[in-house]
Amino acid sequence: MIEANGASRTLSVDIGGSGVKAMVLDEAGNPLKERSRVATPQPPKPDAIIQAIAQLAGEQGEFERVSVGFPGVVTNGITKTAVNLDPDWIGLDLATKLSEKLGKPVQVANDADVQGYGAISGKGVELVITLGTGFGSALFVEGKLVPNLEAGHHPFRKKDTYEEQLGRAALKKVGKKKWNSRLKKAIASLEHLFNYDCLYLGGGEAKKINLELPPNVKVVPNVNGLLGGIALWQDK
Ligand code: BGC
Repeated sequence: MIEANGASRTLSVDIGGSGVKAMVLDEAGNPLKERSRVATPQPPKPDAIIQAIAQLAGEQGEFERVSVGFPGVVTNGITKTAVNLDPDWIGLDLATKLSEKLGKPVQVANDADVQGYGAISGKGVELVITLGTGFGSALFVEGKLVPNLEAGHHPFRKKDTYEEQLGRAALKKVGKKKWNSRLKKAIASLEHLFNYDCLYLGGGEAKKINLELPPNVKVVPNVNGLLGGIALWQDK
């Protein structure tokens, strides 16, 4: 069944290192249900996570199509990297596998790209960083995604990558104060590199940000990681 006005409902899923989240959106991308969440199965292998998504789908009720944000590089529905999940994801056709499981068409994209679609204005150069288990990045030019940006695994300082300095493991290890001072340095470094018009900071740990931010840097709610899922079905 579709909405009374004939519109399709989208089950938007965010696969994270600590939680898998899902929410049904209407055609305009507004939530139709409260978000459901389960802890990411351990070990985070494909079958266990696909099973967790099926459970969340059951809780969310009816939908006609699915969008997934995945924490790694994704090309044509295939998951190419999965640094914070499990090597079994490398080369997996997640779109097809999940579509067979749920009986609905599925689009898959990088999780930071999905966050970005939920946050950007569509004007100028916009950079999106997500702070969660990993360090996600997405770059948009006039609303168009520049694919496969993986700033998280790029060298940042002291022989560490951005993810090694600012991922959740680092936050737990060094505490909020030091993590914030690293984040300040990271923002300065990214600004020099991208000369963005606007930088958005999202992800589950963005609530720990305790910095005075320049006017072109905005903290966005983590729910954008689900709301942005509607963009994967636009023009489809
Ligand atoms: C992955 C990115 C992902 C980020 C946030 C990184 O480790 O390589 O693709 O967007 O974590 O989940």
